[in-house]
Amino acid sequence: MKALVVYSSQTGNTQKLAETVCEALPAGTQMCVVDDAPDPADYDLVALGFWLQAGKPDPKSSGYLERLKGHKKVFLFATHGARPGSDHANNAMACAQSLAEGAAVAGTFSCHGEVNPKVLEKVKAKPQPPVWLDDAADAVGHPKAADLDNLLTALKAVLK
Ligand SMILES: Cc1cc2nc3c(=O)[nH]c(=O)nc-3n(C[C@H](O)[C@H](O)[C@H](O)COP(=O)(O)O)c2cc1C
Repeated sequence: MKALVVYSSQTGNTQKLAETVCEALPAGTQMCVVDDAPDPADYDLVALGFWLQAGKPDPKSSGYLERLKGHKKVFLFATHGARPGSDHANNAMACAQSLAEGAAVAGTFSCHGEVNPKVLEKVKAKPQPPVWLDDAADAVGHPKAADLDNLLTALKAVLK
């Protein structure tokens, strides 16, 4: 199986997940940032990691999701300030899947990712702070070892 790991990460949270995914895939699996990502059609499995911005996959990842349309096997993973399992997080993952319309999404995973404190200050000052702001305090220190274990469990189900 020829696999590819693509990710976008500003502050390193999603990168940690990407490294964990890559280590669990066959030796020699290529990992790259979304800016340098090759044509997904050349791979049997593409794992894409993104972070949430404005309730959606970050813009660069959204662009790559479009390129995944109709792909035969995709694994999606993400980090966010919102509580895992919240409507906000679930809707963002659904958005990712719809951007990659027709792709066979074999599995998904997402978890908290610590939010840059400067960003938190900015969003707190908004007249209408985003819904995920209250959850962000619990994101401090994530992703943690338990998040990475849960990620591996989700990935292993895909590789079975
Ligand atoms: C500009 C900006 C917008 C964000 N918007 C959201 C959002 O809409 N929902 C959310 O849950 N988290 C949001 N976050 C938090 C990030 O998704 C989260 O901290 C993520 O783990 C960052 O991943 P990274 O370290 O790989 O860059 C935002 C962060 C930034 C910097």
